[in-house]
Amino acid sequence: METKKQLAAYAERIEEYMLRKVAEMEQKSGTMEIGQLYAAMRHSLSAGGKRIRPALIYAFCEACGGTQELADAAACAMEMTHTSSLIFDDLPAMDNDDLRRGKPSCHKAYGEATAILAGAALICAPITVLCGEKLLTPEQQISIIMTLTDREGVNGMIGGQLMDMQFETQETVTPEELETMCLGKTGALMRASCEIGCICGGGTQEQITAAGKYGQYVGLAFQIIDDILDVTSTAEQLGKPIGSDAEENKTTFVTLLGIEKANQKASELTALAHRQLDLFANTDFLHALTDALLVRVQ
Ligand code: IPE
Ligand code: IPE
Ligand code: MG
Ligand code: MG
Ligand code: MG
Repeated sequence: METKKQLAAYAERIEEYMLRKVAEMEQKSGTMEIGQLYAAMRHSLSAGGKRIRPALIYAFCEACGGTQELADAAACAMEMTHTSSLIFDDLPAMDNDDLRRGKPSCHKAYGEATAILAGAALICAPITVLCGEKLLTPEQQISIIMTLTDREGVNGMIGGQLMDMQFETQETVTPEELETMCLGKTGALMRASCEIGCICGGGTQEQITAAGKYGQYVGLAFQIIDDILDVTSTAEQLGKPIGSDAEENKTTFVTLLGIEKANQKASELTALAHRQLDLFANTDFLHALTDALLVRVQ
């Protein structure tokens, strides 16, 4: 299948699965009157995201010989986790952005308190979804949850987000510091997606390790392109505000390297990523996706 169509098929599949899981949760809410919270969760989860992380989970699961069914719960858990990070990232206390996925950001639509609670709910929900997945063995469930929470947590995405905020007022930031921060805030969940895909598909430890490296290279390249698009794109195209980084005094690959060298670095990382795919079968989609992410406009 053509790359774009495959990506769209994965996106449609995960969208449907996620909303089904949210509906199941809502059915259990009983007499609690929390429709507002579910509405806020759905607002942020629903259409508009590129679903790159679920696609990586499906693709690595399949590249290890697994089926898409085996990856559904993990892909859902990851997209919920990622979406929670976006809700928090947009809050006034963080990047203070009003637009996300082409819609008002969660706190703009539902207020800060509900947005914070929706973000928190989307950290808990992944564990519920993963523990309820009968297709995975208990060993797989534990391994996926450990990988997800470790990469999401203080030494991963959350730590990276703190560094990002600290850099706003830090006098100088070195390229090494910037790379460490981005490997956390963006690379960690990309890495986890690739690793978790392998765990779902019954991959070997060698495959999990190679997939993790692939995810880190792709994650860093992804953030470089994100930084470039914040300068060169439009809000209509991105579905989020442009110029947000400059407004918040962010240190980015653009401020440290300039657009041309930043692009070059993303190309180098992409080349390194391709080389990590040797241990896998049927990697046409993954190779094509790797290249597509480098030239993405959204
Ligand atoms: C945005 O991620 C946040 C970053 C890590 C740069 P995406 O660009 O994957 O956002 P969605 O999921 O498509 O909205
Ligand atoms: C955010 O990086 C990474 C996370 C949300 C974890 P950015 O702040 O650059 O992401 P955007 O540009 O708002 O999507
Ligand atoms: Mg941010
Ligand atoms: Mg942001
Ligand atoms: Mg950005």
